Amino acid sequence: MVNGTRAIDLTLKRICVTGGAGFLGSFLVQALRDAGCANVFVVEHRDYDLTKESDVQRLFEDARPQVLFHLAAVVGGIGANQENPGSFFYANAIMGIQVLEYARRCGVEKSVVIGTVCSYPNLAPIPFSEKSLWDGYPEVTNAPYGIAKKVLLVQCQAYREQYGMNAVYLLPGNIYGPRDNFDPSSSHVIPAMIRSMLEAKSRNANKIVCWGDGSPTREFLYAEDAAGGIVKAAQRYDGAAPVNLGSGEEISIKDLAEITAELCGYEGHISWDASKPNGQPRRKLDTTLAEQFFGFRATTPLREGLAATVAWYKERLSSVSA
Ligand SMILES: NC(=O)c1ccc[n+]([C@@H]2O[C@H](COP(=O)([O-])OP(=O)(O)OC[C@H]3O[C@@H](n4cnc5c(N)ncnc54)[C@H](OP(=O)(O)O)[C@@H]3O)[C@@H](O)[C@H]2O)c1
Repeated sequence: MVNGTRAIDLTLKRICVTGGAGFLGSFLVQALRDAGCANVFVVEHRDYDLTKESDVQRLFEDARPQVLFHLAAVVGGIGANQENPGSFFYANAIMGIQVLEYARRCGVEKSVVIGTVCSYPNLAPIPFSEKSLWDGYPEVTNAPYGIAKKVLLVQCQAYREQYGMNAVYLLPGNIYGPRDNFDPSSSHVIPAMIRSMLEAKSRNANKIVCWGDGSPTREFLYAEDAAGGIVKAAQRYDGAAPVNLGSGEEISIKDLAEITAELCGYEGHISWDASKPNGQPRRKLDTTLAEQFFGFRATTPLREGLAATVAWYKERLSSVSA
C-alpha cells in the first residue's frame, strides 16, 4: 500500500455509497457485497438530496460511515452537458464539497471520490498522464462538469494536507455496461448507439445518424472492471495523487459504431452529422499508476463488454414489451 500503511479490511466497516443506486454505483455496491462487506448503506437520491446541506448532515447521522464512496453526480452525454452547463457545475461541485466536508467533520476513516476523464485538458498529450491534469482547459462542451469534479480533487488534497484525511481521488475513463442510461436525452455514446441501431433494425430502417464526424477517439471501461478498481483503491491506496482508472484501449467513434452495429445485427448505413460537436478529439488514459499503487488492471475486452451490454438491453426491451 502506498505510504506503507496496511490495507484496510472493508468487510468490517460501515460503508456508505453516494450514487449507489446509479449505474456505476450498482456495480460498486455489488462488488463490495461480493467482497464480504455486509454493512453497505446505499444513498438514494429520493431519500437524500445531497445538494442540500441539511440532507447531507442527516445522511451522516443515519449512516455513520467509516468508509465513504462518493459517486453521486449529475452526468450525461455531450448534448446534456451543453444544455445544462450551469446546473451540472453547481450540483456536482456542491454535492462533493458538502459530502467531503461532512466526512471530515464526522471522522470518516477513508473517502474515495470518483472524478472523470472529462477533467483533462482538451489537448492533453496521449496517453493522459495524471501529471497533465492542470495543463489546460477541458474541452468546452464538458468543461463545467469536468471542472466541478476536479474541484473535489483539490478538496481531497487540501484536507489530506491540513487534517490528515485519507481521501483518494480516481479518474475513470468513459464507463459502459449493462444497466447504463439508455435515455436519449442524457445517454452517453455507447447506449445511444445501441438504442438507435436496435430501433432502426426493428423498424427496418436502413440509416441511422450519429453525432460528429466519427473521428474522435475514446477509451471505454467496463462498469464491473471500474467497480473492482474502486474497491482495490479503497483497500490499498492512500495517497494525494489522483489516479486514472482505465482500460488503456483507444478506439475511434467510427470503429466503435461498426463493432456495435455488428453486435446489434444492424446492417444499414451509418451517417455522420458533422454539424453536431465531436467533443474532445482524443482520449486514452495512462493506466500505470493504478497498477503500481493498487494492482488494478482492466480485464474485460471492449467487444466482450459491448456484447454483454447489447444482450442486457435486448433483454430489457423484451421484458418491457412482454
Ligand atoms: N458514466 C461514465 O461514463 C462515467 C465516466 C467517468 C466518471 N463517472 C462518474 O461516475 C459516477 C457515477 O456515474 P454514473 O454514470 O453511474 O451516473 P448515474 O447512473 O447517473 O449515477 C449518479 C447517481 O447520483 C445520484 N444523484 C444525482 N443527483 C443527486 C443528488 N442531488 N442527491 C443525491 N444523489 C444524486 C443519481 O440519482 P438519480 O438518478 O435518482 O438522480 C444517480 O443514482 C459519477 O461521479 C460520474 O461523474 C462516470
